[in-house]
Amino acid sequence: MKQSTSASPPASGFTRRKFLQGSGAAAAATVLATTGGEALADHHGDEVIAGETTITLHVNGQNRQAVVEPRTTLLEVLRYQFELTGAKPVSADGSSGASTVLIDGKPMMASTLLALSVRDKKIETVESVSQRNSGAVPAAFVEYDAQQCGFCTPGFVVAVRAFLDKNPNASEAEIRAGLNGNVCRCGTYANVLQAVIALVKGGPRG
Ligand code: FES
Repeated sequence: MKQSTSASPPASGFTRRKFLQGSGAAAAATVLATTGGEALADHHGDEVIAGETTITLHVNGQNRQAVVEPRTTLLEVLRYQFELTGAKPVSADGSSGASTVLIDGKPMMASTLLALSVRDKKIETVESVSQRNSGAVPAAFVEYDAQQCGFCTPGFVVAVRAFLDKNPNASEAEIRAGLNGNVCRCGTYANVLQAVIALVKGGPRG
């Protein structure tokens, strides 16, 4: 059988190089149109933001300005622009619970939120949440020795406050289930549990 040895491009003019270039562009376009694009460019209606931009965030009762890129997380803004260092960068995927903050009253992980996506939200960090109810949650943690290195503690304090606000009469089982998104590598769970049980019963500081 005769084999072609010609190096000239096919009659269609569509070379392998062009095909690969086209495939790459199509793949990139697909990614931008689905998850990656959503993550890198925040859409507010018809608005598409690229590069640095100045935004206003409502944090702990104040409007504060931050300079962000589409990829900037809320945790990065809180820690490195607002110097609110309570929320901790333990896990980028939020699995540790160390970056827990309240967004419109709901506990969420600041490490997984893009700053652009929370422009219209009410953001509360541990620096504010811990003061509520006369500082009852931190006081209970101290009284029941519910921390060791303390790295997980800010996240726990926010999570506990949010949990108790919704479940003021929670049972032990409900407390265990309600706080299962926060990890303590020092293993203080038993003491945290006792602190929260004490809070449900009205102490310390009611
Ligand atoms: S006290 Fe160390 S991680 Fe919880």
